[in-house]
Amino acid sequence: MFCCTVNNLNSEKLRKLENFFELNGSLITYQEVTASNESGLFTLKIFSEVSLDPIIIFLIEECFAVKSAITKTPKKNWLKTSNVNFSPVKINKFIVTSSFFANSIKQNRFSLTIDASLAFGTGHHYSTKFCLELIQELKKRKNNPLTVIDVGCGTGILAIAIAKLFSSRIIAVDNDIHAVEMAKRNIVVNKVSQYVKVYKSTGLIGNHLNSRAKYDLVVANILYNPIKSMMRSIIENLSNGGSLILSGLNLKQTKHLKEISKQFRLKVINEKKEANWGALLLKKI
Ligand SMILES: C[S@@+](CC[C@H](N)C(=O)[O-])C[C@H]1O[C@@H](n2cnc3c(N)ncnc32)[C@H](O)[C@@H]1O
Repeated sequence: MFCCTVNNLNSEKLRKLENFFELNGSLITYQEVTASNESGLFTLKIFSEVSLDPIIIFLIEECFAVKSAITKTPKKNWLKTSNVNFSPVKINKFIVTSSFFANSIKQNRFSLTIDASLAFGTGHHYSTKFCLELIQELKKRKNNPLTVIDVGCGTGILAIAIAKLFSSRIIAVDNDIHAVEMAKRNIVVNKVSQYVKVYKSTGLIGNHLNSRAKYDLVVANILYNPIKSMMRSIIENLSNGGSLILSGLNLKQTKHLKEISKQFRLKVINEKKEANWGALLLKKI
């Protein structure tokens, strides 16, 4: 196993490097981000089964103006490692823990037991945290969606949270098979199988997903470009008065989506911003 460590990244460079590795997923087995409280900078560790090509390393260093260090590390059980490493996190009423810590926490309808392995979505990242906050905002507004789609479900964290809060009928999709498998496991562990069905899909493609105006809530914590390209199909599948949560955006992208929301008959209901990350709660009018 090889580990490529890049230190001293600001949030913008971290985001760009994460995007790069997301687009070149075959290069990596696992990635780890740690933040330094003192400097506010991040360290990104990319683990790979194969030795990373020196040309790729050179290009990364040149393009992102960073220095990296490659080391050899023993092979690990990544599921076990990510369970152990991931500490419980509280997001308003929700408490997210890995199954490793779940027994040490009193379980209630706000407890989410989430194992991540190679999938994204533990609640530690701003984009997920914002979605969990906005889902609770809907509850506060007594806006209870009956039908929901979670586009880019990752670990299934958002679908599970929605099932626990609203008992809605939820479809969760992801285009990554690891995420689909992890989401299915987490759904069983959280005892919400009667509410959530998971499919492998890119966006809302497939007859069982796309039948015009059937969702009261669409949640999409994916990147800006996929969100933009599927905006029309999202709106077509959103019921009148339905809610849309968009996340995984930087502040500039959030602003742009806000600006174009009117042309999609969407009204901004709430907005989250922190550390160059943004998310929107919109309503179809
Ligand atoms: C940022 S993660 C979000 C995971 C989880 N929903 C959360 O909020 O933590 C984005 C997920 O979207 C998936 N994804 C990206 N583009 C997609 C697309 N066009 N269709 C379906 N899934 C997609 C990725 O595989 C990844 O699991």
